[in-house]
Amino acid sequence: MAEAIKVGLVGARFAARFHWEGIRRVYGLPVEIVGVTAKSAESSKVFAREYGVKAFASFEELCDAVDVVDLCTPGSTHEPLAVAAFQRGKHVIIEKPFTGYYGPGTEDFRGNVFSKEVMLREAMASCDRILDAARASGKQLGYAENFIYAPTVAKEREIVEKSGGQILWMMGDCSHSGSHSPYYGIWKFSGGGSLVGKGCHPLSAILHLKRVEGEAHDGKPIRPATVSCRTHEITRLKNYRDAGFVRTTYDDIEDYAQVHVTFDDGTVADVFSTELVLGGVHSWLEVVANNHRTRCNLNPIDAIRTYNPQEEILKDVYLAEKLGTKQGWSNPAPDEGWQNGYPQEFQDFMVSMAANRAPLSSGELARDTMAVLYSAYLSAERHGAEVNVP
Ligand SMILES: NC(=O)c1ccc[n+]([C@@H]2O[C@H](COP(=O)([O-])OP(=O)(O)OC[C@H]3O[C@@H](n4cnc5c(N)ncnc54)[C@H](O)[C@@H]3O)[C@@H](O)[C@H]2O)c1
Repeated sequence: MAEAIKVGLVGARFAARFHWEGIRRVYGLPVEIVGVTAKSAESSKVFAREYGVKAFASFEELCDAVDVVDLCTPGSTHEPLAVAAFQRGKHVIIEKPFTGYYGPGTEDFRGNVFSKEVMLREAMASCDRILDAARASGKQLGYAENFIYAPTVAKEREIVEKSGGQILWMMGDCSHSGSHSPYYGIWKFSGGGSLVGKGCHPLSAILHLKRVEGEAHDGKPIRPATVSCRTHEITRLKNYRDAGFVRTTYDDIEDYAQVHVTFDDGTVADVFSTELVLGGVHSWLEVVANNHRTRCNLNPIDAIRTYNPQEEILKDVYLAEKLGTKQGWSNPAPDEGWQNGYPQEFQDFMVSMAANRAPLSSGELARDTMAVLYSAYLSAERHGAEVNVP
């Protein structure tokens, strides 16, 4: 039997847990999760005890023990950790956001009022440093964008590829009532708000499907050309009335974003992302093509509908992410990780890394996503004016 691919997790909280679950479901080749390291030694010890792996005292020590370094840490850490891992000759998985701009390191930095032209330039430079380090190492980079692997998006990819359709308009959304992470909400850690933190998901899927369409049609990916965007800080409005159901503790980020993208073939897409939506995670994508129309529901899905007359009855049953209440009608997720595309994502990453070839969700797609997101911030600074995507 082939030697197991050894994976090390960096970060030991929310994302590390679903990465663990996803990696454990990889089949057809042996994979071993060797251990974990995190900024907080305590949280990495708790994680290590719970999952029966080693807690490494440092990032370097973990790197030396593995083939694949899996970054489940805030966006601000992605570039330095990824570059260091590539320099040590490791394959790297990077959670979204791929990278970004996190400020000049001064105390008074506030992302929402900082020059977006500088941010766009610096974010692209950061992307290029990561991609250069990957190329120099000869190792693979997996951009952990689960929307690419969600079964509904994968089915639409097949429809686009085999039907020869032209996608005319796409729209997508990723919203909920607010991230649990203390890092989220502070630009110097998160690199932005709803746009970067949530909009990245449907946007990456949209960019991916236009690439696939172009490659199927004439062997050339269709790329984003321009973007117009508005962002708002709804929960920080003076007249916002807090009813207690939506997170409001944001420092210098937006909690609402709307993006309009045009592609180099003249077709369009619209993406919404917010922290304002009750009733669980709201993740979907709609594709309007010249020969078909598809609705991809990632969360919720309606495979099951359950009516629960009393909260207490389902207290021990997991229903769906950020649902809020279990009373009344709900759509319990039969397998939320699968419908989000996590196991499929790690399957592709492990197979690709074992063969040393680029995975479906690649560094190129990650770079395009960042180019649209930070061009969108520049557009929002200009109150929605159209900006060319670099
Ligand atoms: N794909 C998805 O659906 C999804 C969902 C949630 C989070 N994420 C992404 O996953 C990443 C982590 O998010 P999270 O929700 O787990 O955050 P979290 O706040 O729950 O955990 C962050 C972890 O990173 C560790 N950490 C911070 N700085 C570090 C450093 N310099 N070196 C080593 N460890 C460090 C912390 O100790 C902690 O264990 C973010 O990039 C986030 O955007 C993706």
